[in-house]
Amino acid sequence: MRAPRILVTGGAGFIGSHTCVALIAAGYLPVVLDTLVNSDARSLQRVACITGVEPVLVCGDVRDALALDRVFAAYDVSAVVHLAGLKAVGESVVDPVSYYDVNLAGTLALVQAMDRAGVRTLVFSSSATVYGDSQPSPIAESAPYAAVNPYGRTKAMVESLLADLARADARWGIACLRYFNPIGAHESGLLGERPHGPPNNLMPYITQVAAGQRECLVVHGADYDTIDGTGVRDYVHVMDVAEGHVAALRHAARRPGILMANLGTGRGASVLEVVSAFERAMRRPLALRIGPRRPGDAPAYWADARGAWQAFGWRARRDLDQMCADSWRWQAANPHGFDDPAPAHASGLPRFQDNTSTSINSKPGHSHA
Ligand code: NAD
Ligand code: UD1
Repeated sequence: MRAPRILVTGGAGFIGSHTCVALIAAGYLPVVLDTLVNSDARSLQRVACITGVEPVLVCGDVRDALALDRVFAAYDVSAVVHLAGLKAVGESVVDPVSYYDVNLAGTLALVQAMDRAGVRTLVFSSSATVYGDSQPSPIAESAPYAAVNPYGRTKAMVESLLADLARADARWGIACLRYFNPIGAHESGLLGERPHGPPNNLMPYITQVAAGQRECLVVHGADYDTIDGTGVRDYVHVMDVAEGHVAALRHAARRPGILMANLGTGRGASVLEVVSAFERAMRRPLALRIGPRRPGDAPAYWADARGAWQAFGWRARRDLDQMCADSWRWQAANPHGFDDPAPAHASGLPRFQDNTSTSINSKPGHSHA
């Protein structure tokens, strides 16, 4: 029997490429739609090194209705995992229109195309950012929407759109996954996070300091009311997040309706605890200094992670030490990201025969956000 094809929008990105690995391991064949505006097509070659299967890459924009129709016509897709989007909080404050365009209008174009194609199973990349910064932790899915920035509001609006859709049409099965703080990398050291430009988030900053590419980590505030004064977050391994998509996809394919689920570990870790775990992984100290608080930062939040377990049997399995060890393995082996050749042991693996890379844009030059 042929592997079911899953359209993965944004599948060349950090979480998307790891999700492709998990989908292939579970017997699916990802078809990636990505503009590559914040990613690198070579991430999918690394997916091939790990799995022996290179996902099909279609270079196209999720806002492009004609491109979407062509993808659904060309590939017999049975469901969609929708990760394509813009995700920098600060940028969303400066340029909200681009965020509403890509994240909200992009999702609208996608569900319209899915409906035309008769594909009505969807897993959507949401975020803990929909809860805002003042909910008591652990945060359960029943907490109200209280996003405090345009990025977070686009995620909350998309969730509302999808909830209305699922209420109106019982043929849809939808899962919105609210990620907490995904970090780590594939344990092979072949695939990991490679941000374009200076990193905003903690782990890519740490790895670049560890690799000597940045002078020192600036800890954004050490005077919070937390275990050691530094900010606390629920870090979750990106491969756990990736496997969460597979579990949620199976659930959404079986059950009509909509489900919102946190993807977190249910435990918080402070900045200094993450640094200590990273130092254990690389066996030397990390250069850091304490700086002022970052505007807009919440002191501490972590997930109530029971919902995903109860709904579709997923829970995080990898701990903070593994997240740091895997992040460091990826960074150490690939100091220049995907510009570094894949390690020799990865070559010679079988390649999937259906590896095609195409560009489907209805309007030339329309592919970038
Ligand atoms: P990423 O930037 O690595 O991946 C997003 C991908 O979408 C990139 O490959 C990018 O090129 C692509 N893309 C952007 N605009 C597009 C468009 N108009 N059409 C097609 N492709 C487009 O980010 P990520 O960390 O992998 O995040 C994936 C999703 O998860 C995003 O929707 C993000 O908002 C969400 N999310 C991420 C985090 C996190 O900490 N990384 C947390 C919560 C939610
Ligand atoms: C940020 C976003 C959030 C998004 C999440 C995952 C903001 C205000 N929030 O959240 O919307 O969902 O990323 O993409 O941008 N830290 C340092 N030094 C650094 C970087 C971070 O001390 O150089 C600290 C932060 O103050 C925080 C913790 O590390 O306490 C985690 O920061 P980060 O990785 O940016 O994630 P969030 O703050 O949770």
